[in-house]
Amino acid sequence: MKTITIAKGDGIGPEIMDATLKIMEAAGAQIITEEIEVGEKVYLSGNTSGISSKSWDTIRKNKIILKAPITTPQGGGYKSLNVSTRKFLGLYANVRPCMSYHPFVQTKHPIMDMVIVRENEEDLYAGIEHQQTDEVVQCLKLISRPGCEKIVRYAFEFAKQQNRQKVTCFTKDNIMKQTDGLFRQVFNEIAAEYPDIENEHWIVDIGAAKVADSPNHFDVIVMPNLYGDIISDVAAQITGSVGLAGSANIGEECAMFEAIHGTAPDIAGKNIANPSGLLQGAIMMLNHIGQSKVAEKIQNAWLKTIEDGIHTVDIYKEAISKKCVSTEEFTEAVIGNLGAKPETLKSVTYDNSKALTLPKYERKKSKKKELLGVDIFVHWKKLNPDELAIELKKIESNELKLSMITNRGIKVWPDGFKETFCTDHWRCRFMSIDGKIVQNSTILEILSNALDKNIDTIKTENLYAFDGITSFSLGQGQ
Ligand code: NAI
Repeated sequence: MKTITIAKGDGIGPEIMDATLKIMEAAGAQIITEEIEVGEKVYLSGNTSGISSKSWDTIRKNKIILKAPITTPQGGGYKSLNVSTRKFLGLYANVRPCMSYHPFVQTKHPIMDMVIVRENEEDLYAGIEHQQTDEVVQCLKLISRPGCEKIVRYAFEFAKQQNRQKVTCFTKDNIMKQTDGLFRQVFNEIAAEYPDIENEHWIVDIGAAKVADSPNHFDVIVMPNLYGDIISDVAAQITGSVGLAGSANIGEECAMFEAIHGTAPDIAGKNIANPSGLLQGAIMMLNHIGQSKVAEKIQNAWLKTIEDGIHTVDIYKEAISKKCVSTEEFTEAVIGNLGAKPETLKSVTYDNSKALTLPKYERKKSKKKELLGVDIFVHWKKLNPDELAIELKKIESNELKLSMITNRGIKVWPDGFKETFCTDHWRCRFMSIDGKIVQNSTILEILSNALDKNIDTIKTENLYAFDGITSFSLGQGQ
């Protein structure tokens, strides 16, 4: 027996959780459940994190959680519990299988069987945002080598375990050469360790279009957090319904399983919700905890039910469905099919599906880090870069000289275009002469000079070379 934590959540959460638990019990799952309360009620009781410390203890003790969707109240500083859970528990891999069930669920893509492996902890979801000037706010995009290595290795190990042929990487490294560039570089390094698995890279925009148009091109796709968030919803939707997909959030110690959809407040309490998404999450959970034969039995019974045309209203189509059923009726139909296999849809055999054990991340040797300059960000309301340059030249030090000013990344000094639209937020680059290495104290000197001259500096970014390679972006047009 394995004790797992369950959270029934909000909206349709309790209905689909009850259905899922009933099917697991009927299939003989060897689990004991411990329920915690999370979500709207907890938020509205004044706890802005949506979860009590006692519930955290339960989750950390049991390590495995099956969670129904929850509502994050709008505004008021409420933090998304979904995002916090993933980060607190180090659930770095979000795994979302998306397949179509043609001809039993209407879809434009009869052949589709892909798995999206989304990085789950970093990227723009670090949630580090600031307003810096009247006109400009920023969000930091953080990508780490450990983060990339863990997620990319997970994708290849997953492909190997599941006998999948190809792993594709999506990034926007043509624009974000440092952040997405690192993700792609790590992808190339790790792909080389798996010569039996095909690998390829797509720029995310055209890649997303290809997913929407020809999803059968893809097998496993690995990508940074934001792209994964968006594209996995697209992929789930084009199978026929977001209501059909489950997802696993996997960490080194803990794992959380859920449906990908939300709380569907429009249909809550009506006994019409499709429990399939959460059930798919539960099937992934059973595989993860080593109860693959129970998982297999449920999946085959579920496929048979879909094939029998027993459909909840979200996927019901008069031409292809046989009966439009309630959540409870659907649950009973799946239970009735336990032990049966689908005839047209491919039945599953889970011999091979258990938690992946990946090697721990090995910290790399530190590189030689040399300071070559500094970008000073300035709040400057007179919108003329040439005037700003005159002021900035007055704060140069002996070692660091003004080399460029950009506005929203585009070079506006020297030799800017008068057509370029400028905001009140300026990145002013001071570089050492002839690539000489400088000391941090030189930056302090410039900042101190700026203070004397009433220049409003809002932040600095040091410009480094790592092992002799300059590691910062150029200005657009530089
Ligand atoms: P949603 O996924 O709840 O609903 C979108 C549409 O799909 C609605 O028409 C709904 O009725 C339908 N739908 C969703 N799941 C269904 C199911 N199982 N059976 C039948 N129809 C289904 O997305 P929405 O409306 O954007 O979000 C509602 C709430 O859910 C928000 O408060 C949001 O914060 C929360 N949410 C929670 C998530 C989680 O806990 N993991 C994920 C996404 C949203």
